[in-house]
Amino acid sequence: MKVSGTIRVPGDKSISHRSLILSSLANGESRISGILDSEDVRSTADVLRGLGAGIPPIANDMRVSGAGLRGLRAPRKALNCGNSGTTTRLIAGVVAAHPFSARFEGDESLSRRPMQRVAEPLTYMGAQFEFEHGDGLPMTVQGVDLRSIDWDTRASSAQVKSAILLAGLSAAVEVRVTERSPSRDHTERMLRAMGADVENDGNQVCLRPAQRLNAIEIEVPADPSSAAFFIALASLANAGELSLTDVCLNPTRGGFLTAMVRMGAQVETTARRKSGGEEIGSLRVGPARLTGTRITETEVPALIDELPLLACVAAGAGVELEITGAAELRVKESDRISTVVQNLRAVGADATELPDGLRVHPSSRKLAGTIDPRGDHRIAMAFGILSAASGNQIKVTNPECVAVSYPGFWDGLRRVAS
Ligand code: S3P
Repeated sequence: MKVSGTIRVPGDKSISHRSLILSSLANGESRISGILDSEDVRSTADVLRGLGAGIPPIANDMRVSGAGLRGLRAPRKALNCGNSGTTTRLIAGVVAAHPFSARFEGDESLSRRPMQRVAEPLTYMGAQFEFEHGDGLPMTVQGVDLRSIDWDTRASSAQVKSAILLAGLSAAVEVRVTERSPSRDHTERMLRAMGADVENDGNQVCLRPAQRLNAIEIEVPADPSSAAFFIALASLANAGELSLTDVCLNPTRGGFLTAMVRMGAQVETTARRKSGGEEIGSLRVGPARLTGTRITETEVPALIDELPLLACVAAGAGVELEITGAAELRVKESDRISTVVQNLRAVGADATELPDGLRVHPSSRKLAGTIDPRGDHRIAMAFGILSAASGNQIKVTNPECVAVSYPGFWDGLRRVAS
């Protein structure tokens, strides 16, 4: 397989959600360019519209008129968050500081995902949460005048951290969050670019009370989690060279690239620049002879979304991979440990489940068969790459589920691989 040409993968999903949420809370009109137009980002836009924000249809160049801090209105109906955990958890933080209640709903997969992790700190701040069954959606949040918090998450979650930051921002109270190791910091970077006083100190972040957020211009860089699929593809190829442009190079998202380089990937970074507090650059990737590696807990936050792909890369290259300290994978869009291992086995790879990770064992067997991504976009794309690398003998059922984060994925794949 030859992989060549230039690809600009769509805008970063995490930054796209935050660009809509923070510009809705700002004073004045923000301009957003390069936002990701996918199902998850549309969920955030719809939920914010339901709360009275002035969000136009998603477009490559769009303007959002901010309502100001605490300027949102009580929704007339339930907020449908679709498949998006980021939409639910971040906007729960915003609603917690507004004087109204809102009911959050989601699809089947989202309804199974844990929400106590945001309910707990936000309840401590004074908000009220009501669950209809257990820990998942539907949930109703009653906002109040929140008090300040100093919260140790005992985990690493950008969604929990951001929910607390957004609650503190909207309520104009100081909040401090401590994590086990730092999760992605896009919220902090964007808040700072909009004039808020945010301090990062290792595993701790502190937001001081803000009276307002300034509207700004936000350039959404290409999503490193989407770029990862093509970095993997070009590394598994026999020939060619692929360029990826405008990729977000935020170090809190850099774990996949670090792991791939350790495995022997040939990656060159060029055209580095900064925009809106984010680092951006281009990557050139060529074929590589990959070796095995091990991923442990401290490395996990920086590549949490890329772990299914890394497992497929190891299977495609026939090398050993061990992932531990990643139990969080069990509560993503699917149980990503069992979905990956069962599907790898379904195509003839040798893989084992661990309680908090997985092992892929070296093998030179030809991979072929049908996989079921269980509606999980990242699993479908990871196996799409493995399929292309192993000569298209893997069929992915329900390939349309990629629309959650990357609607044009299959076209992109066809364009660069031959
Ligand atoms: C995200 C944070 C991560 C990640 C998710 C997006 C975000 O989850 O897995 O896809 O945009 O904040 P955690 O909150 O578990 O870190």
